[in-house]
Amino acid sequence: MDSVRVFAPASVANVSCGYDVLGFAVHHPGDEVFMSLNSSGRVSLDLIEGDDGRLPYDPAKNTVSAVVFSLLKSLGIEQGIGIKLYKKMPFGSGLGSSSASAVAGLLAANELLGRPKTRMQLLPFAMEGEKLACGNAHADNVAPALLGGMVLIRSYDPLDVISLPVPEGLSCALVYPHVEIPTLAARQIIRTNIPMTSAIRQWGNVGGFIAGLFTNDNDLIGRSMEDVIVEPVRKMLIPHFDEMRELAMENKALGFGISGSGPTVFALCSTRETARSVACVLDARLKDNGIGSTCYVSQINMEGARVVDGSD
Ligand code: HSE
Repeated sequence: MDSVRVFAPASVANVSCGYDVLGFAVHHPGDEVFMSLNSSGRVSLDLIEGDDGRLPYDPAKNTVSAVVFSLLKSLGIEQGIGIKLYKKMPFGSGLGSSSASAVAGLLAANELLGRPKTRMQLLPFAMEGEKLACGNAHADNVAPALLGGMVLIRSYDPLDVISLPVPEGLSCALVYPHVEIPTLAARQIIRTNIPMTSAIRQWGNVGGFIAGLFTNDNDLIGRSMEDVIVEPVRKMLIPHFDEMRELAMENKALGFGISGSGPTVFALCSTRETARSVACVLDARLKDNGIGSTCYVSQINMEGARVVDGSD
């Protein structure tokens, strides 16, 4: 095989109570990378589409080429690789856009090299990409984009990543209000010292959420989707946040929160139909208030990044 096309999905990080430790993948949107081997001896970005000219072609600065280069270096391989990146989701949206690109690049390179690494072994390289993109090597977007499903980062040092079960039918409504929130800025506004009472409430919720996944208890999942630490600060950056939460819950969502660092909001629902109606109601409310928005409805994507058909 001397070329491959890979799709990597958007992901919802934090999942309300699990700042930097919980995330899940959705089926769409997602980014694509087309990658081919060549004899140049170097990694190059030959095309970037869908980024409005915002991403660098410099291979040291572009997240995709940087993580691929780092993978090659770790394997001691000097291989020429040409990359075409097709961005299909917005920047600064909270949908894990940079993670999807890095994951697609890594999976493509790993395929072309004959799968020298497992997906789990690719994870630290994807985290390096996160650091380059937003200054912090968190894994709650890259891990689900790479591994699929719902993922817990139990520990960063040493890295300990656990795939969690997901109740049948669990679905997600995603609504992206068209404002941009850079992740770095959204991380800088969070308090780094938190009261013990908040910590107790938060880790109770993380435990409850995970127990709900294991026991197929949608009510427990829903009532555990409470974030008393990060959401109260970040929601101020998101137009009509409280109103959208109220509407989502009135329309039978299990729980509602900020996707990643926002501004996208998400609602977990017990069925795809409920998720669709929640998405429609929230989307309409934003539009009534003069705010452009895009919505997506998806079940949890258990597969994660995948090789897709299609030549260049
Ligand atoms: N856990 C990260 C955050 C996800 O909330 O800042 C966004 O990349």
